[in-house]
Amino acid sequence: MSRNAYIVGTGHAVPDGIITNADLEKIVDTSDEWIVTRTGIKERRRVDAETASSDLVAEAVLNALDMAGWKPEDVQGIIVGTVTPDYPFPSTAALVADRLNMGKIPAYDFEAGCTAFIYGLIQAKAFIESGILDRIVVVGVDCLTRITNWDDRSSCILFGDGAGAVAVSSEGPGGRLGGWHWGSDGSLGEYLIQWGGGSRNPASHETVDKNHHTIYMEGSRIFKHAVRAMHDSCMEALKRDGTPKKDVDLLVSHQANLRIIDATARALELEPEQVYINIQKYGNTSAASIPIALDEAHRSGAISESSTVVLAAFGAGLTWGGMILHW
Ligand code: UT7
Repeated sequence: MSRNAYIVGTGHAVPDGIITNADLEKIVDTSDEWIVTRTGIKERRRVDAETASSDLVAEAVLNALDMAGWKPEDVQGIIVGTVTPDYPFPSTAALVADRLNMGKIPAYDFEAGCTAFIYGLIQAKAFIESGILDRIVVVGVDCLTRITNWDDRSSCILFGDGAGAVAVSSEGPGGRLGGWHWGSDGSLGEYLIQWGGGSRNPASHETVDKNHHTIYMEGSRIFKHAVRAMHDSCMEALKRDGTPKKDVDLLVSHQANLRIIDATARALELEPEQVYINIQKYGNTSAASIPIALDEAHRSGAISESSTVVLAAFGAGLTWGGMILHW
């Protein structure tokens, strides 16, 4: 009998600290009006000096386990998608597995920019359907405010911090992981990059002086690729799933820009109430944006027992991906 993978628990965590558009008006030459009309963002969350990604992950994972009815020792593997791990190594996943007493399970981080959560779900689906694991936790987390260039008005207004997690099981009921699509194009990688800190440009006084440990983004170039890639990922995932777009109940996409979300919704011919949007509260939380939105949609009842949900994302790499969930 063929095996399926089901989301049986969702959870998220965001820090308490809020940065409003008015706060940003004091730092860079911008306005609430520009930010809201160009991005849809009103405020975003920021970690305090003592908090790192693993702290948000631990809270998000406990929320997901609670919904799933799992104890930490029930988890057989944990994978964390992030570009802002606590440390370059060891992995945030291993730190959290230890902190939550999950035992000596496989735990690793991976990186696919803002697309990481969908990449993670595809990995979880493969692990479960192949019989390698029965219960795995997939996390998306980023503390982008830690690597934001606060002198760059075109990017610093976008980012916020958060984590989202799902418990994925070989046993339902839950949100079955269906058709998927994923891809990348490294030739466009320099449009969204952190130049310093890796093996090409190791950390030095010079890399610090040049602000190379922060995010460099060519936003308007990315914008048009994002619109096309999100559209194509949704369509390819639906095709692989055998689901016509008229059967889609809800779009939960990466929250990078309200105009990109609207364009994806239009391509799917969705009504406004069929699109989950929380970008106004959190900004772009990178790998965390889809699992945070999914958890909020799930807990608020926007996802019901028979919902067909489309996930779509786009990010650094450049990477993109889509997945269909059947609740
Ligand atoms: O997370 C995954 C990857 N990231 C994305 O998907 C981001 C995709 N890109 C975007 O969301 C948008 O491109 C941005 C929100 C980053 C920028 O919006 P845009 O509509 O593409 O603006 P633009 O970069 O074309 O800039 C238009 C104007 C420029 O002024 P001039 O040259 O026309 O005089 C900018 O200097 O807006 C100016 N501008 C600002 N003005 C006020 C740029 N940033 C700001 C700002 N406040 N914060």
